[in-house]
Amino acid sequence: MAKQVIFGTPYETGAIVKPVEQAEGLAHFEVNEQADKLVFRCKLDKNDIVYGLGEQVKGINKRGGRYVSYNTDDPNHNDGSLSLYGSHNFIVVAGRKPFGAFFDTPGKVVWDIDVDDSGEIVVTTDQNVKVVEMDGDGAYPIAREFLSLIGRSFIPPLWAFGFGQSRWGYKRQRDFDNVADGYRNNNIPLDWICMDIDYMDRFIDFTVNVKRFPDLKGYVAALKQRGIRLVPIIDAGVKIEPGNATYDEGIKNGFFCTNHEGKPFKAAVWPGMTHFPDFFRPECREWFGNEYRKLTELGIEGFWNDMNEPAIFYSEYTGITNSLTPVPASEQEKETNAYKDYRNFYHLVDGRRVLHEKVHNLYGALMTRAASEQLDKLLPDRFLLFSRSSYVGAHRYGGIWTGDNGSDWDHLARNVRMMPSLNMCGFLYSGADTGGFGGNCSRELLLRWLAFSCFTPLMRNHTAILTRKQECYRYGGKEDFQSVVSLRYKLLPYIYSEFVKAALSSDMYIKPLGFEYFDERSLAVQDQLLVGESVMVAPVIEKGAKGRKVWLPDEMTEVRYDGNCFTCERVPMGEREIKVALNEVVFYIRKGKCVPVCKGAQCTDELNMTDVVLLGDGKQYRCYTDDGFTKDVSESNIVTLSRK
Ligand code: GLC
Repeated sequence: MAKQVIFGTPYETGAIVKPVEQAEGLAHFEVNEQADKLVFRCKLDKNDIVYGLGEQVKGINKRGGRYVSYNTDDPNHNDGSLSLYGSHNFIVVAGRKPFGAFFDTPGKVVWDIDVDDSGEIVVTTDQNVKVVEMDGDGAYPIAREFLSLIGRSFIPPLWAFGFGQSRWGYKRQRDFDNVADGYRNNNIPLDWICMDIDYMDRFIDFTVNVKRFPDLKGYVAALKQRGIRLVPIIDAGVKIEPGNATYDEGIKNGFFCTNHEGKPFKAAVWPGMTHFPDFFRPECREWFGNEYRKLTELGIEGFWNDMNEPAIFYSEYTGITNSLTPVPASEQEKETNAYKDYRNFYHLVDGRRVLHEKVHNLYGALMTRAASEQLDKLLPDRFLLFSRSSYVGAHRYGGIWTGDNGSDWDHLARNVRMMPSLNMCGFLYSGADTGGFGGNCSRELLLRWLAFSCFTPLMRNHTAILTRKQECYRYGGKEDFQSVVSLRYKLLPYIYSEFVKAALSSDMYIKPLGFEYFDERSLAVQDQLLVGESVMVAPVIEKGAKGRKVWLPDEMTEVRYDGNCFTCERVPMGEREIKVALNEVVFYIRKGKCVPVCKGAQCTDELNMTDVVLLGDGKQYRCYTDDGFTKDVSESNIVTLSRK
């Protein structure tokens, strides 16, 4: 049962969509006012586990760290980083008296969770916050209650569950042809290719560089014939360029965020100096969302929204006027350049000027909402949309990727640990840049990462400009890549079913093991996850490892796929040492459960999702199938398959 206490006059974020009963006071936290802040404290028991916080570093268990919810563009993040691209202020404390808490404010929230063994959680917010507490029978039911409060997660079309290839640096049509040919000629499945900023005319939103794409509409159609969709990027900042329709309209209607003088705020991002659309205003969201029409009219069915924390390279305010001028070391300390800028521009909310800093964490979420609400009107079918920045509530409008990571093993481990926390906060359609964004990805790392990403709803290989070419076919021994990526397609009847069923029933698609198994090992494990109702994964995430130790909380079916066939073996509860070759993926099917697998294909358009075989020892499986596009996603599309 959820109850809320409102402090001050918090900004209505729209995260919660169901009515919540008011309580006199909080049940789990003591509150103190300190200057202009509120400090909430809660004692932890020695064995309590703290789950949650969505896109954050460190463990599945958040004990032992400080975390700051303040959306930040940090391409060099590591486990010492405080803030990433999204803010998801929900935790569940699991232990003797399990409870959940959501701190709903678009401003900064600081979480000290058992820092230096303090034995307490200390949450610091500004004076305006809505705190929702939930009690329940355990971490899992509490997380589900939270999911039901925040509303149904975004469901993209089936093709968005296929494999996507991306690279910052594909410029012209030929580059996209090379990717399409590279995958098709090497028989490695592919469904979509991202268009990064170079498809635009000088990085100006809603433009296309016509020298590079003389007939984008024709090209989109031609690639679609081959079962490949193009997914262009849209950035938050609109280039200051009189004559450009988006800019002109934004200026004419006063749709941009303003500085202290009431003039449009200027900040530099990829296109140079830009203005930021004021997504807090419904009329501005409608206008900006409608701009996507310029690309949907060309046949585009999916987008990624970027730089929407918003990322700022430099601004007039901070006095640095050339992107090539590095930010002085003294200014880099503690605060990024952008943090200073966040105190220098305003939104118009119901006619009132609101300082960006106070509502910062909602900016990217509202860009996603702007795009999603209009795309829903512009397109007859479901579309793909994922964003870099987010806040709880944005999960109803689109998915997210976890921002700029790196091509190293720590980032793979972080991806594994982050997935269940993201799911707790509604972001079911999520995933990391497979292979890593910054740095050069080795063959071994890419194969191991793909083997894990096979199970994440968003499966996209993406990397930065100037890094080693990271498409699967660039590495020797293509059979290994065929094997791993084709498994994804064979598993799609399961992945798609579990995803849609989770979205429809306020459930998680990826869970920590400790949500369903309560032995000490399961509660502690950081590198094994439950995927849907039937599967446990235990990815290999160590460099040079020939396999790994797996903890089996129960008897299960061990499934090994090597590119040719599935081998299934009943394995007992307990610890198990397994070998996993680079071309193999091993996963587990829980006792009494099954997993439908199909033949696979080079793209989802060619996939026969109804011709399936059930693996595992269960008798029946509730399978969700539709045409992959329909907006009418409902339980009525679930059929029960029985073992013959
Ligand atoms: C940002 C994005 C990254 C993209 C790059 C260029 O760093 O996070 O994914 O490739 O900008 O657009």
